[in-house]
Amino acid sequence: GKPVFQDQERPVNLKQIAKDIEACRRCPIGCNGTSAVAGEGPSHAPLMIVGEQPGDVEEQQGRPFVGPAGQVLRSHLEQAGIDLGDAWLTNAVKHFKFVPRGKRRLHQSPTAKEIDICRWWVESERLLVRPRLILALGASAARSLLGRTVSVQKERSRPHVLDDGTELWLTTHPSYLLRLQDDARAGEEQRFAEDLRAVAARLK
Ligand code: URA
Repeated sequence: GKPVFQDQERPVNLKQIAKDIEACRRCPIGCNGTSAVAGEGPSHAPLMIVGEQPGDVEEQQGRPFVGPAGQVLRSHLEQAGIDLGDAWLTNAVKHFKFVPRGKRRLHQSPTAKEIDICRWWVESERLLVRPRLILALGASAARSLLGRTVSVQKERSRPHVLDDGTELWLTTHPSYLLRLQDDARAGEEQRFAEDLRAVAARLK
């Protein structure tokens, strides 16, 4: 079909993106009455980290990666020696998709179509921040950057190159680590830590 953003001008700065995503109604998630969560970090960070979408806590606080999965990410970044002063943190999808369960809001994964619609915003961020390296967390972020669905487990842990020359690394989403127990958790945490260390080495 016709791209929804075909005739739209690109936002001129990151503040403009934060303002415009709040008003975005191009997919059903943007129409669910929640607040959008904008990317955060230095405007010319060498590293861009892309998650899936804001969670319950992120939507309430209006900041990316401040909930449980965000804490896992932040502690691993610190361990790997990646400074948040070098990282633009953002998401493939800018609004929180959920189903209500009593007082709780249960996370729902975005569809491929929703990711593809929201991709225009991620591209706009890339054009403004111009990171040297992008780290995509999980399958939704991988699709957002590559424009197609890939197996993260197959494609992780090595550099990919995007059309404009930007280096892309894929790894698992930290919320996946939170769902595992015991040995499985320890093994995946270790692989996640190794991926972050490899990214840290590429930033040097
Ligand atoms: N918090 C975010 O902002 N993004 C995610 O993908 C997960 C948690």
